[in-house]
Amino acid sequence: MKPFVVLSVAAIASSAAVPNLVSRQLGNFLSLFGVGGAVQAPILNQELKPQHDPAAKRELKVWGPFKLQPANSTHGKPNGLKLDPSSDVVSAALSGICNGCMVLEAQGQMSFANGSRQDIQFGVYTHHILFADIGRPAVSLPLGAVCPDGIKNAGGFAGQGAALAGSGPPPGVTASGPPGQSEGHSHGRKRQAPPGSKIPPISILVGNGEDASPLVFASKDPSVKSGFYIGEEDKFGLMAEVINYDNHDKDVWFSVDIEYIEGPREPDYLDVGGGALNIDGCSRGLAFHPPADKAVSYTSNDFIVGADGYLLNFTPHLHDGGINIEVFRNKTLVCHSDAVYGDGEGTTAIGGEAWETITAYTPCEKAVKVSKGDILSMSAEYDLTKHRLRPDSNNHEMGAEAMALATYVYAREPVAPAPAPAVEE
Ligand SMILES: *[C@@H]1O[C@H](CO)[C@@H](O)[C@H](O)[C@H]1NC(C)=O
Ligand SMILES: *[C@@H]1O[C@H](CO)[C@@H](O)[C@H](O)[C@H]1NC(C)=O
Ligand SMILES: *[C@@H]1O[C@H](CO)[C@@H](O)[C@H](O)[C@H]1NC(C)=O
Repeated sequence: MKPFVVLSVAAIASSAAVPNLVSRQLGNFLSLFGVGGAVQAPILNQELKPQHDPAAKRELKVWGPFKLQPANSTHGKPNGLKLDPSSDVVSAALSGICNGCMVLEAQGQMSFANGSRQDIQFGVYTHHILFADIGRPAVSLPLGAVCPDGIKNAGGFAGQGAALAGSGPPPGVTASGPPGQSEGHSHGRKRQAPPGSKIPPISILVGNGEDASPLVFASKDPSVKSGFYIGEEDKFGLMAEVINYDNHDKDVWFSVDIEYIEGPREPDYLDVGGGALNIDGCSRGLAFHPPADKAVSYTSNDFIVGADGYLLNFTPHLHDGGINIEVFRNKTLVCHSDAVYGDGEGTTAIGGEAWETITAYTPCEKAVKVSKGDILSMSAEYDLTKHRLRPDSNNHEMGAEAMALATYVYAREPVAPAPAPAVEE
């Protein structure tokens, strides 16, 4: 079982990356998801047995191939959304995902043409995958990071669209951005998108990393029903950052295993989005470097909740070396999740040294009720003496950065009216 990780979006939305992109290359943003390029249809469509609801449909879809450059070649420079200098970016507009359907679970991965996973056993490391529903407004929990210099919008992973649309702080949270942060324009004012820019709303349907964890939108708590509703007109774009550890070029494919209910949204289903608590919600930096010679425990700042709802399926995003995360509501433990290493999968040798990666996290399945005014916080443990960081593909001495996020699905309450599906006459 591989609970999901939405790293990326969380990561990207709450990092300084988006503001930088907004000012520098807003027009290029959607092209990072392949928008404007040729739309690729799946090369494989296969029916699978549903896991959540016997009445649901479940399908495996594969797109590609996409070319990765040899490890020893020159790769694109890191920018706002490309984080690793040795990676290649795979982006494409993709068709073949259902429209007018309620997604219960979606899992994506870099694969072979048959959809089976292509991971570090094959010299392919997935830094992150973002597969976006373009046109669906994001649902995100308004969260404020309680910081020494005031309360800041902690973002949600869905905050990506919001940030680009120039939204201000979440309702109930007063922005008081520190000077010099986020371009220094956030002194209680709304950030404005540059004139003339038209950024459609974006929601993330698949977001993960080398763990290849699924995004489970369906609640496992029988008292809460939830799903990710895809509108009739929505389009889909992929942006993945992938690292080839071999000195020859390589084809990779992208596959999605998706379970969904067709038809208009059932009114008793809560609308979901996602988000993440970052271990450092104040500086908004995501990367840090744990000590190499001992175990270390990190504690986050507090986060103040700005709306009611449920947090479902808490899952860590840790890098190798991470041991666990814990999440607290009003100082009471509501989730403890351990990183699971290796287990046959996710094991390889880089430069002659064994390297085991995180392949899963133990699940937190209980729905956590949150109300406006609640305080959330998290902690994370790292121990680089037990598990090493991902080796750099060119210089094995140099470890990559660490991260600690607790990602979640947010089910919004009260139930928002279902968006009327577009009717074609
Ligand atoms: C899928 O393709 C890969 C690469 O050709 C192969 O190694 C693997 O065994 C195939 N998997 C299945 C289930 O056929
Ligand atoms: C990369 O490695 C391959 C295989 O060792 C070699 O043939 C090629 O010349 C190398 N390329 C560069 C740019 O160093
Ligand atoms: C958490 O603490 C806040 C602030 O004291 C309070 O308003 C809220 O009711 C508490 N929530 C729970 C679930 O105990």
